[in-house]
Amino acid sequence: MDKLVIQGGHRLSGAVQASGSKNSALPLMAATLLSNGGAVTLHRIPDLKDIRTFRKLLEYLGVEISDQANTLSISTSNIRCAHAPYELVKQMRASIYVLGPLLARFGHASVSLPGGCAFGPRPIDLHLMTMEKLGASVSIEKGFIEAQVRGKRLKGAQIDFPISSVGATGNALMASVLAEGITTINNAAVEPEIVTLCRFLNAMGADIRRIGTPSLEIEGVQQLNATEFTNIFDRIEAATLLTAGAITGSSITVTDADPSQLTAVLGKLEQAGCRVITDTRSITLQSPDVLSRTDVIANPYPLFPTDMQAQWIALMTQAQGISHIIDKVYHERFNHIPELNRLGAHIEIRDNEATVYGPEKLTGTKVMSTDLRASACLVLAGLVAEGVTEVLRIYHLDRGYEHIEKKLSSLGAIVRRESYQEFI
Ligand code: EPZ
Repeated sequence: MDKLVIQGGHRLSGAVQASGSKNSALPLMAATLLSNGGAVTLHRIPDLKDIRTFRKLLEYLGVEISDQANTLSISTSNIRCAHAPYELVKQMRASIYVLGPLLARFGHASVSLPGGCAFGPRPIDLHLMTMEKLGASVSIEKGFIEAQVRGKRLKGAQIDFPISSVGATGNALMASVLAEGITTINNAAVEPEIVTLCRFLNAMGADIRRIGTPSLEIEGVQQLNATEFTNIFDRIEAATLLTAGAITGSSITVTDADPSQLTAVLGKLEQAGCRVITDTRSITLQSPDVLSRTDVIANPYPLFPTDMQAQWIALMTQAQGISHIIDKVYHERFNHIPELNRLGAHIEIRDNEATVYGPEKLTGTKVMSTDLRASACLVLAGLVAEGVTEVLRIYHLDRGYEHIEKKLSSLGAIVRRESYQEFI
C-alpha cells in the first residue's frame, strides 16, 4: 500500500497542467458501447485507477481497448455480454453508467448494485426510474439490477428528475439516444461532464437538443457511429491545485483549465482574499498575506461543487475567522474532518454543516484517507502543516488525481510516495 510523505511549510511557484476529466471520461467510455462498430478514439483520458477499473469492466463485456499515452481506441464490434459483475461494479460506483447503453444496445442488462461508499448511501433509484420510464421492466434479483426492454426498443418518454443527478442524467441520455421517438429530461444535470457527454453522443450521430440546459430533448436515431473525440480537462483537479497554492500562500498557474467551468470556486477564492487572473485556458492564483473566512454551500453545478467541499474546509483552517461549510449534495461527506482535527484544526460538525475556527496551526502526523476528495484535503493540509505529514491509503487519491505528487513537486512542494505495510 502507498502513502504520501509531505514536508509542510514550503511555498509553491510556477505552473502545472491539469489532466483530462475523470468524471467525463467515465461516461464517454460507457457511451462507446452505443457505437455500431469501428474504433472510437478518445483523447485526453487520464491515467487513473477509476479509468483502469472501468476499462476492465468494458473488456469483461467484450470491448477491445488499446491505449497510447492518454488516448484510448475502443472497439465494440465483439461485445459478448450485457452482465456487469459485482467484483468490478463494487470497486467503482460509476460502473452503473453501463446500464443505459447496454439496455439501449441489447434490450437487456444485468448490472450489479454498486453498494454504498464512504460518505453515506448513494442511491440509484433515479437510474432505475429512468429505465422503467423508457419502457424497460426493472427488478432487483440477488444484488443485481435485471433490466429487460418490454418491446423491440426503448421508447421515448418524459423523465422528470426530482433532484439534479449527474449519473442518472448520463444514463438517461445514453438510454434514450437509440430509443424510438422523443425523450425529454427535466431537471437534468448541467455539469460540464454532462454537456461533454451530449457533445460526444451527437458527434456519434445522436440528436440531442438544448444541451447545457436543465431541459434536454433527445430524438432517438437508428444507430450511432464510431468517431474521434477529445475529453475536457478536470475542473476539480484544477481547483484542487489552485487551493494548494492558496493554502501555502503561493502564486501559481494551472494551465489547461477552463475558468468558465469554475466560476463558483474562483469567486470563493477571491472572496477569501486571493487574486485570480484567467484567460481562456489557464488560471493564475495569487494568495493574500492573510486568508479571510469564507462560507460555502455545496450544490449542483454551476454552484460550488461538493467535490471541492473537503478541500475548502482544509483551506479555511488557515483563514482568519469562523467559516461555515454546508454540503447539500452529500449530507455525510465529512469523514475528512476528524483527520484534519488530528493535525490540529478546530472544526465542529452538526448535521451537514461544518464550522471551521481559523486560523489554526497544523502539525504534521499520520492521517488516514477515507475517500477520494478527503485524501486530497489531507494532502493540502500536509502542505501547510509544520513538519512531516503522512497521508495513508492513498489508493483513494489515485482514483482521481493523475500523478499528483509529481505535479505538486514540480511546484516546489516536498512530497514523495512511499510504500508501507499496515498493522493487521
Ligand atoms: C457524480 O456522482 C460524480 N461522480 C461525483 O464525484 C460527484 O460528487 C456527484 O456527481 C455530484 O456532483 C462521477 O461523475 C463519476 P449524483 P453521481 O447522482 O452521479 C442523489 C468524485 O469525487 N441521488 O449527481 O453518483 C445522490 O445521493 C465523485 O469525483 C439519488 O437520490 O452523483 C446525491 O445526493 C464523488 N438517487 C445527489 O443525488 C439516484 O438515483 C447527487 O448525486 C442518484 C443520485
